[in-house]
Amino acid sequence: MPGDKSISHRAVIFSSMAVGKSQLKGLLESEDVMATIGCMRKLGARISKTKDGIWEIHGCGVGGFSEPNDIINLGNSGTSARLIVGAVSTCPITCFFTGDKSLRSRPMDRVIQPLQKFGSSFYCRDKLLLPMCMVGANDPVGIDFKSQVASAQVKSAVLLAGLNASGETRYTERISTRDHTERLLKSFGADIDILLLQGTKVIKVNGLKQLNPQEIIIPADPSSAAFPMCAALMVCGSEILIPNVCQNPTRIGLQETLVEMGAKINISNQKFIGGEPVADLVVEYKPLRGIVVPPERAPSMIDEYPILAILASVAEGTTVMKGIRELRVKESDRIKAVAQGLKQSGVKVEETEDSLTVHGKGNSVAGGTLIQTHSDHRIAMSFMCLNMVSKDPIRVDETSSINTSFKEFFQSMANIGANFE
Ligand code: S3P
Repeated sequence: MPGDKSISHRAVIFSSMAVGKSQLKGLLESEDVMATIGCMRKLGARISKTKDGIWEIHGCGVGGFSEPNDIINLGNSGTSARLIVGAVSTCPITCFFTGDKSLRSRPMDRVIQPLQKFGSSFYCRDKLLLPMCMVGANDPVGIDFKSQVASAQVKSAVLLAGLNASGETRYTERISTRDHTERLLKSFGADIDILLLQGTKVIKVNGLKQLNPQEIIIPADPSSAAFPMCAALMVCGSEILIPNVCQNPTRIGLQETLVEMGAKINISNQKFIGGEPVADLVVEYKPLRGIVVPPERAPSMIDEYPILAILASVAEGTTVMKGIRELRVKESDRIKAVAQGLKQSGVKVEETEDSLTVHGKGNSVAGGTLIQTHSDHRIAMSFMCLNMVSKDPIRVDETSSINTSFKEFFQSMANIGANFE
């Protein structure tokens, strides 16, 4: 499995903010991560790949980004957009950002609002969407921000801005989101503290401390592993082993859900890689039953709902996914895209603003339809997996979006017996 996307973005950005040479092994080389690398180069980091596949990054130091002489295009990558805007917002430079059609429709107000408090300014078109011009703060001072939205991207944007602000930056999150930023910043030597106050997480960063370069090994991405895992659970007779999958507790909501649905996931060879728990997973085919997925689990499996919905359609009984409003502002409106595709495939589905209910059909999904992916990689991969068990073939309108996160998808799936045309 390829390297984790969230950790790869962070490893590149933090290395670009350190003083000296960092080395990254197992970096995901997808289009999204390449967008982050391209941007870091424009901001002054020196980045190259050795012939052994190791990425070497000479960073510019906290606050050391230089002003790019052109517009920065971040393609399809929401994580690049939110994290990088945070990182540059407390540097005294002006940057112009844009992205592809999908990224230009995704909310940036969630980061603009806290980042303005550091003293930076943003000039955007209607509804605070990209393209936008950011004028970084001259003398940024730390802020105290309580987030209303459960988003690791917003949290990371604020913490990265705080690195170059004087004094303390505090970020409070009611519902825990993925914590790769906190873990990695600690290993880069940032002055970061995490407090748990009555179940609420408060993260404190003391700014103006330099980061030390690191050697990082990036574990396999659980969000990409979700596709072969769920495919194995759907296709009778399957048994697959996926090595070194990131087992960070803030990322394993899908695994918990699958076990509740009746799956047996054998976890072995547990160890730590790059400050993250990892393990080998063995998954075998098993008929599953529908369950109710509680809303508080959403952040730990936010990118896995499309493939879970596919799996739910071949389970016995009904699966209800609650508290998933955030899916409406991902690379596409994922609740709508999944509901539409499943309906076309002969599955009964109900959606509300904040939930999705799938009535499982056992192993008798009709298929025989053309799915609109809305250029969303996870919609394309999810319906390709349903194709493996549907009675009639399912086609998707495009697959190039898959390169944003998992360009080895077709090869990896072919290695375990899938046959796509
Ligand atoms: C990510 C956080 C999630 C997730 C995205 C990657 C990250 O977004 O959907 O694919 O790397 O921080 P939100 O933080 O907006 O939920």
